[in-house]
Amino acid sequence: MPTKLLSQFFPWLLFVTLSLIFLYSSLLPFHSPPSPTQPLKNIPTSPNAKSKSKSLKNACNFYKGHWVFDPARRPIYDETCPFHRNAWNCLRNKRDNMGNINSWKWMPKTCDLPRIDPFRFLDLMRNRNIGFVGDSLSENFLVSFLCVLRVVDLGAKKWKKKGAWRGAYFPKFNVTVAYHRAVLLAKYEWQPKQPSDFSQDGLKGIYRVDVDTPVDDWAHVADFYDVLVFNTGHWWGSDKFPKETPLVFYQSGQPIIPPLEMLDGLKLVLQNMVSHIQKDLPQKTLKFWRLQSPRHFYGGDWNQNGSCMFNNPLEEPELDLWFDPRNNGVNKEARTLNLLIQDALQGTEIKLLDVTHLSEFRADAHPAIWLGKKDAVAVWGQDCLHWCLPGVPDTWVDILSELIRTGFET
Ligand SMILES: *[C@@H]1O[C@H](CO)[C@@H](O)[C@H](O)[C@H]1NC(C)=O
Ligand SMILES: *[C@@H]1O[C@H](CO)[C@@H](O)[C@H](O)[C@H]1NC(C)=O
Repeated sequence: MPTKLLSQFFPWLLFVTLSLIFLYSSLLPFHSPPSPTQPLKNIPTSPNAKSKSKSLKNACNFYKGHWVFDPARRPIYDETCPFHRNAWNCLRNKRDNMGNINSWKWMPKTCDLPRIDPFRFLDLMRNRNIGFVGDSLSENFLVSFLCVLRVVDLGAKKWKKKGAWRGAYFPKFNVTVAYHRAVLLAKYEWQPKQPSDFSQDGLKGIYRVDVDTPVDDWAHVADFYDVLVFNTGHWWGSDKFPKETPLVFYQSGQPIIPPLEMLDGLKLVLQNMVSHIQKDLPQKTLKFWRLQSPRHFYGGDWNQNGSCMFNNPLEEPELDLWFDPRNNGVNKEARTLNLLIQDALQGTEIKLLDVTHLSEFRADAHPAIWLGKKDAVAVWGQDCLHWCLPGVPDTWVDILSELIRTGFET
């Protein structure tokens, strides 16, 4: 059987690859190849922002580095935060290894990443609002942010207006932080099979995507937020939209002919959403685009008993084996999508928030089988996609809050 052959072959392949990597890195100790996820990030590229680029030239690259174990490190919040979502509340769900998960500290290569000071941050944000727009990984990010900020404003209240899916208002500071669910960013809707589709075998209907129309959930919030953080990611796959219920792309109200493959549709959606953000959002709004949060399914995809029962982060040489699209593994989507997103953002004032590389290490930090609900694993499989909280998104919060701070102070 081919799978059996593969499993015999894999350890050997791993060994050869690691040896090559080792040889390569020991021969060329000072050579670091340019990576597609390397930042142009903090350097504004639009003409009217040019004058600022000098002061930001020496800005730290938070995205390259490694995790170090610090047994004294403690999370800022615990399982009692009222903004938790059950399935990600790994402390309450008694996930194994939670102490270790939160003892790793991200160390950028060339500088220190300060931990957020929630009081100073909210003080800086006074009378301002932060919005997240995208899929459930943005919600995961939001919950982390809310729980971190709440420790200095215990009066924080749930907030769900203006189309928000979830959020909180911090009364001491008059700050709102919320999430707008928009998994594809563009508008999409279910259409049952039409009589004219009869020739198409097995088709149950389509999801019509209007590539040029932001979905209502975030289309009308531009004036409310001072900071917006966008993402779209793991919904662009055939597990979400199989060929019986595919995405079909429309532009100016008409189907695009010939029909586009999913990733070509994504390119068009990205172009359109980026140009909408550039044109219709106020100049003064700080705009970020968060790159992919990688998944860590081992031994199969989420619906094929894929697992992530790891006790430690991955080692750097393992990352390409897991994530390089050339290896065609189940976790390749993050880097594939990142390339398309980076293309679409080129030359815009939207800053990249590149959490991909640092998160790729953290195979140990997903909820896995500890989902807080009987039968959840049998029905949904392990969760190797979202993150335990407290956990890795707390580091995303540290980085985002630094970028927001420099964005408002410079
Ligand atoms: C709270 O902030 C909003 C802007 O988000 C502002 O319009 C409003 O005046 C502020 N309220 C107070 C009491 O300062
Ligand atoms: C997943 O595991 C269960 C129980 O071990 C098994 O019955 C099922 O066939 C497996 N599914 C796949 C896709 O491997």
